[in-house]
Amino acid sequence: MLRLGVNIDHVATVRNARGTAYPDPVRAALVAAAAGANGITAHLREDRRHITDDDIARLAAELTIPLNLEMAATDEMLAIALRHRPHAACIVPEKREERTTEGGIDAAGQHNRLAPLVGELVAAKIRVSLFIEPDPRQIEAALRLGAPVVELHTGRYAELEGDALAAELRRLSDAAALAVKNGLEVHAGHGLTVDNVAAIAAIPQVMELNIGHALIAESLFVGLDGAVRAMRAAMDAAR
Ligand code: PXP
Repeated sequence: MLRLGVNIDHVATVRNARGTAYPDPVRAALVAAAAGANGITAHLREDRRHITDDDIARLAAELTIPLNLEMAATDEMLAIALRHRPHAACIVPEKREERTTEGGIDAAGQHNRLAPLVGELVAAKIRVSLFIEPDPRQIEAALRLGAPVVELHTGRYAELEGDALAAELRRLSDAAALAVKNGLEVHAGHGLTVDNVAAIAAIPQVMELNIGHALIAESLFVGLDGAVRAMRAAMDAAR
């Protein structure tokens, strides 16, 4: 089955816009789980612009479905991951000035910096995934690092049209096939919506999609329960 990981960062974005205690991302996580989410993803950014340390502590304590902690490759985030022991940790590149994670991590160029961090997470039995561009060089680098999972960045796919879109989709499906052939588990995410998810959900090697912004946006109109169910239905129809 294709798993759906629901990213609840932007529930915290709305909360933090007013400095209130609501809307509570943990409540959102529990609603998403009840609606059929298979996991919850939260990105604790260095600048704490949405998810906070306390949110991670509460998610780790209260969730009954797997927590996937998105994190930059820093000592601070490593210590937090080792303290809360989420089911999974997805290593992402992070720039303060970006609006969202704008590209994959350069697993190839940063081998020496990533190797000890990946090693410590793996030793703590946290399932490490590397958020990478669908590029054979990055898959080979993930293999060298000993990460069991790669999450393929679908941000470019989500923005393209026509021939460029078809070419990017081929790049994603070729990367998924190469990763699985070499024993990696493949996830995908970024920029996915109920309207563009089908082609990604149809890539047979992809085991999990992590989706946030479009679900939280749609929940304004149909509720989070309805948004998660509609995404689940779109994924299942494409599979
Ligand atoms: N996967 C990763 C690694 C991400 O960084 C993000 C964005 O936080 C997502 C998935 C979800 O992207 P979106 O919010 O565009 O659905």
